[in-house]
Amino acid sequence: MSVAIITGSGGLIGSASVRRFAKENFTIVGIDNDFRSYFFGEEASTRWSVEKLKEEFSNYHHYNVDIRDYNELEKIFNEYQKDISIVIHTAAQPSHDWAAKEPFTDFGVNALGTLNLLELTRKYAIHAVFIFTSTNKVYGDLPNFLPLIEQETRWEVEPSHPWARYGIDETMSIDQSQHSIFGASKVAADVMTQEYGRYFGMKTAIFRGGCLTGPQHAGAELHGFLAYLMKCAMTGREYRIYGYKGKQVRDNIHANDLVECFWEVYKSPRVAEVYNIGGSRHSNCSLLEAIKMSEEIVGKKMNYVYVDQPRRGDHIWWISDVRKFQNHYPQWKYKYDIRKILEEIYYGLKGRV
Ligand SMILES: NC(=O)c1ccc[n+]([C@@H]2O[C@H](COP(=O)([O-])OP(=O)(O)OC[C@H]3O[C@@H](n4cnc5c(N)ncnc54)[C@H](O)[C@@H]3O)[C@@H](O)[C@H]2O)c1
Repeated sequence: MSVAIITGSGGLIGSASVRRFAKENFTIVGIDNDFRSYFFGEEASTRWSVEKLKEEFSNYHHYNVDIRDYNELEKIFNEYQKDISIVIHTAAQPSHDWAAKEPFTDFGVNALGTLNLLELTRKYAIHAVFIFTSTNKVYGDLPNFLPLIEQETRWEVEPSHPWARYGIDETMSIDQSQHSIFGASKVAADVMTQEYGRYFGMKTAIFRGGCLTGPQHAGAELHGFLAYLMKCAMTGREYRIYGYKGKQVRDNIHANDLVECFWEVYKSPRVAEVYNIGGSRHSNCSLLEAIKMSEEIVGKKMNYVYVDQPRRGDHIWWISDVRKFQNHYPQWKYKYDIRKILEEIYYGLKGRV
């Protein structure tokens, strides 16, 4: 028996991981306590997603456990022990703005929760692959100090800059910038995951994501950019753009493309690798561009307002350079670009909003 432990299994990336690894006949152990509804309210609950997984896969076993609770987690690791061949850790408090409200909760989930899982993996299944979904927010607001130029619908990096062509690579410093409370708790988890690789020789891989997206996202204003934007486009709900003239750029990767990265790592793991991952130059947009595309797909004008105050720690321009991952795993390819992602979210949300 090969067991995949997937934390945050009801969430966007967790549920896509369940589907991908269930297909490969793993016994899936999903851990999710629907904390997303505590963070962002009932509309962001992922309970429906867990129910669907239970219906879809007889090899899916759900545990309604909080990853801050070491003792409860230990019971799970103890049950499966050396059968555990991969841990995909996606459970998190994922929002900048929310983190400042309850720093202890944020740090408890993001940093302590990650340490719990690393330590239990070391204790019960040291040979398992351990994947951690970090974030590009570990770079703090350093990207905002790149030489930016304003274009009609987006900010861009001065073309002569080394990161202009392919995006930002992993050599950017994660030190001495403003991260937000959320960014700082993710830094702690990111560095600890690296350390369990370097120090204990565990097969850890860290993915520093740009915007991760897909129709499974329970989009809320504070998290789930494209899913929430599309929800507003479809329902007529007011969408608020915060600062930077709506020209801030994000790269967007579909959850299925990301979990394909996990599968590649599983097949050929390395130790303590860090990857920037996102849509790269292949799939990115500014807010204004995303609004325009959504209007075209939905077939009506969006109801949006501009708030002349950027979110703290928000990036003005972020595009991931994914070439390090592509060099290590050349068989991995994108299946989605921004238009295809938005269309899929639209069809996914139809009937649900
Ligand atoms: N979505 C993005 O744009 C994005 C970007 C960069 C990084 N990330 C990171 O990727 C990971 C997955 O993101 P996502 O968009 O799938 O998030 P998500 O919110 O959709 O899913 C996370 C799941 O974890 C669960 N959870 C939260 N706290 C928990 C706890 N204490 N115990 C058990 N379960 C808990 C939630 O209920 C939710 O179902 C997170 O680590 C996030 O920080 C996401």
